Amino acid sequence: MNDFRLKLRIKAASLATFAASMKDEGGNIFSVFDEILDRKDKEAFLKQHSKVIWLTGLSGSGKTTIAKILERELHSRGYLTQLLDGDNIRSGINKNLGFSEEERIENIRRIAEISKLFLNCGIITINCFVSPTRSIRKMAEDIVGTDDFIEVFVDTPIEICEERDPKGLYKKARAGKISDFTGISAPFEAPEKAYILKTENKKAEESARELMDHILPLIVKEES
Ligand code: ADX
Repeated sequence: MNDFRLKLRIKAASLATFAASMKDEGGNIFSVFDEILDRKDKEAFLKQHSKVIWLTGLSGSGKTTIAKILERELHSRGYLTQLLDGDNIRSGINKNLGFSEEERIENIRRIAEISKLFLNCGIITINCFVSPTRSIRKMAEDIVGTDDFIEVFVDTPIEICEERDPKGLYKKARAGKISDFTGISAPFEAPEKAYILKTENKKAEESARELMDHILPLIVKEES
């Protein structure tokens, strides 16, 4: 046997040993890495507790504006976060979805599953979605897990959202050019047990500070 063949044999043998080490007694393959790198390891690495901060509220209520300020503040304090909103989700992974009841359910289901992946990676997600009904938010909570799901209601009266109308959507909805528009021709159910941010007569910075005070105790990880 020449040198090259011998090297190949040795390599194949060591790969077989490695593969065998990944099998349990029943012969099922499992990854040793699953045992080593779990959420706790990643949270310890990042020195934070991961959570899903779920902002619900009408279009134009200020969810993303508040979330962006919060994210910058968290970043400057050394926390790793991911902001999810219509801009990055509905233009990418959910670009095939519209605003019918079924499509909103699928939109939120996928977002909750994505958030769970971030959660298990130790990362704090800040989610900004209308998520208009109690049942839709309950589904998200069930997927994420109640202990890690922080529901926040950005409570801005519809008159103010409509006055702001940053994307001109309320005007179009009133003119009948958009159907199923939340608050106009589709329902919005205020949450019953969320942390409430009343935004009327407040700057977004103030609301972000309030939210920071609420979440900070939940994400701080004491050095062990
Ligand atoms: S959700 O209902 O499925 O949770 P999502 O938060 O992803 O909605 O998207 C809402 C954003 O999409 C709004 O802020 C608005 O800019 C835009 N939009 C477009 N059409 C509608 C509609 N029919 N109802 C609500 N929002 C709409």
